Amino acid sequence: MRNPFRALPILLLVLGLHSAALSAQATTAPHLEKRGVATQLIVDGKPFLMLSGELHNSSSSDLEYMKPIWPKLRATGLNSVVTPLSWELIEPKEGAYDFALVDGLIDQARHENQKIVFLWLASWKNGMSSYAPVWVKQDTSRFPRVVERGNPVEILSPMAEATQQADARAFAALMKHIKEIDSRDHTVLMMQVENEVGVLGASRDHSDAANKAFASAVPAQLMQYLEAHRASLYPDLKDRWDANGNKTAGTWAEVFGDNERADEIFMAWNYARFIQAVAKAGKAEYDIPMYVNTWLAGDNTPPGEFPSGCPEPEVVDIWRAAGSSLDFYSPDLYDARFEMWSRRYHRNGNPLYMPETRGGAAGAANVYYALGEEAGFGFSPFAIESEAGEKDPLAESYTVIASITPLLLEHQAAGDVHGFVLDREHRSVDFTMNGYTLHVSLDNIFGGQAESGFGLIMADGKDAFLGAGKGFRVSFTPRADNVPRVGIAAVDEGTFVDGKWVPGRRLNGDENDQGAYWRFDPHQQHIEKVTLYRFE
Ligand code: DGJ
Repeated sequence: MRNPFRALPILLLVLGLHSAALSAQATTAPHLEKRGVATQLIVDGKPFLMLSGELHNSSSSDLEYMKPIWPKLRATGLNSVVTPLSWELIEPKEGAYDFALVDGLIDQARHENQKIVFLWLASWKNGMSSYAPVWVKQDTSRFPRVVERGNPVEILSPMAEATQQADARAFAALMKHIKEIDSRDHTVLMMQVENEVGVLGASRDHSDAANKAFASAVPAQLMQYLEAHRASLYPDLKDRWDANGNKTAGTWAEVFGDNERADEIFMAWNYARFIQAVAKAGKAEYDIPMYVNTWLAGDNTPPGEFPSGCPEPEVVDIWRAAGSSLDFYSPDLYDARFEMWSRRYHRNGNPLYMPETRGGAAGAANVYYALGEEAGFGFSPFAIESEAGEKDPLAESYTVIASITPLLLEHQAAGDVHGFVLDREHRSVDFTMNGYTLHVSLDNIFGGQAESGFGLIMADGKDAFLGAGKGFRVSFTPRADNVPRVGIAAVDEGTFVDGKWVPGRRLNGDENDQGAYWRFDPHQQHIEKVTLYRFE
């Protein structure tokens, strides 16, 4: 008779390997990963799409104040929240850390099944230094200020080594603590380091240290980076360099021009050096994605009227030259030209993540563009608790997107999903995918045209597509010349229940304009599948 225990060692080995693999997966920290053509946020081994919102600046400074906010976030369909954590509250006395707030926020988030992105409000917030602890603020000789027109202002100078070290020390202590309490659960997904940094009130710092550095040679590290990446530099930066004779050495004014744009580049380098060092110290303790956000400059606005040096698209290359501890750069996007700015940040390996943007009806539409067209991995309207609740238009979008998230993530990676926002000024858009050109336009039936529409469409197998959104209609033209005409075989609306497609109404007649269009009426969002057929 065969010995039944002979296979036991092999079985134990297999089980051991399996559980080791599972626990490695459970303990791998959140990180970014290139999957297909998209960069995705990987949490516990799987891509995580952040349907998020950023809280008002002061809400998360008080755990009691937060209590009634969490249910509102849940009602809006958030799976994560972006929220401040300030240096002044973490290190009220130098070297004495207080992490009670961090613990409390993580605990509350876990109860609510939410993830967190913390904003490290430390040396700078909206250009100013209001969140630095008072022991930093008052010691102006150890922690010197930016000087403008001969006077120090309430902005810590990024030239100061002591400030960088103090900020980095506190941030490292915070990251060490987060690792201690969260390296299994992964409630904290990412860290934003500082907030909307840059000099306000002048195009650069005029402290003695800054003047001296500005009159010195551009550091070799930066020059070498620009030379090595010449072909992929943001066009505006390349033009500026070209216009000044493409020098590979010289002072800042010699290389970039004797003007305030050179000041901006100089400040970008110095903020970047400082913040890359802070991020590096944090990552040495706990390596999760870290990024910097941007107060976007208006058209023709001079640096100093927007924070000079923050990672505007034209200086992202300067930030990248200063180090690689920051994983990506993000826009705080309130401007109506959502697509233009999104594209400016989703370029050259920088993925799109939107830490601050408009919510409500605008956000409900833009989220489709950001996640569908630009393969964004997170969307987070600002002041989320003001509008949050199930009546917030964003809630409808988040609910629909949550139900198609596994598919959307797959199609982001495959590169066969498109997102769009239409209105009276932008009535239509064409996409080529899955062997067809899709003409997507504002919905129109019996002469009644929708005022606006938005959604996304993905390939769903041969001659088939899946879409979500409202207020648009789609017609199809085969790409190949030898394909006969196509018609709509069937349109079904439906839902995903536990990831499985459950068809609802068969949409025909008025609902697909008698077979002429794949329609998404403007009244409420739908998820629909269409299949096409060919005929002579
Ligand atoms: C942008 C900042 O980053 C936020 O913290 C907040 O202050 C908003 N502006 C206010 O609109």
